[in-house]
Amino acid sequence: METKRSRLDRLLAKTLQIPRKQVRQLLLSGRVMLDGIPAKDMDVLVDEFSQLTFDGVALRDDAPRYVMVNKPIGVVCATKDDIHPTVLELLPQAEREGLHIVGRLDLNTSGLVLLTNDSRWSRALMLPQAHVPKEYLVTLANPLDTDYAPAFASGFYFQFEDITTAPAQLDILSERQARVVLTEGKYHQIKRMFGRFRNPVMALHRSRIGALPLDSALSSGQWRHLTPEEVQLALGMDASSPK
Ligand code: URA
Repeated sequence: METKRSRLDRLLAKTLQIPRKQVRQLLLSGRVMLDGIPAKDMDVLVDEFSQLTFDGVALRDDAPRYVMVNKPIGVVCATKDDIHPTVLELLPQAEREGLHIVGRLDLNTSGLVLLTNDSRWSRALMLPQAHVPKEYLVTLANPLDTDYAPAFASGFYFQFEDITTAPAQLDILSERQARVVLTEGKYHQIKRMFGRFRNPVMALHRSRIGALPLDSALSSGQWRHLTPEEVQLALGMDASSPK
């Protein structure tokens, strides 16, 4: 992804429709924040990942924004819901404006959810052909055994959709805990896969998308912006490698 940079004073003059002289005064007033600190330097270069606010309101609505959320159980992955709080409502109003959810989790699933206003990025993540891996930690009602991994790798036929699931990786972590990696996201997929073994899923947590792990410093319900490197990591790409 290419990064476009512009000088802060030019950008402020254009966005706020004020002369450059006024921009200088504005910066001195400390009301413009760049990445959480008062911006004072007119010449500083800002790019699409810079978080720019004026009196606490985000500027440059067109700038792509990328957010990770640690979704709690009981929060719904929807833009609006009459009963449950939505994952977007975990963010303040000004932050959630224009964002959409990339890959939903069930109401009783916790863990990593990504939000963005960049539909090219979300499409690249969700495209079935992209095979972006999603990692889940699963707690089961009954003990696991060695039959599970080969069955997950071979795929399961889902009659309702008339599809066979893509090969999935299952690693047994303890008697009732497994790590599962999927490259697709069918309706209730993991619960239905374990259902074939009549083994109910007691807890389900998404821990990684692509090469991007859920930040362990984020407690349940917390969120933060992604770094430019993390935007690439979610796509399974190493940000340091040439594009
Ligand atoms: N599989 C499920 O069953 N539920 C989820 O939320 C995600 C994967």
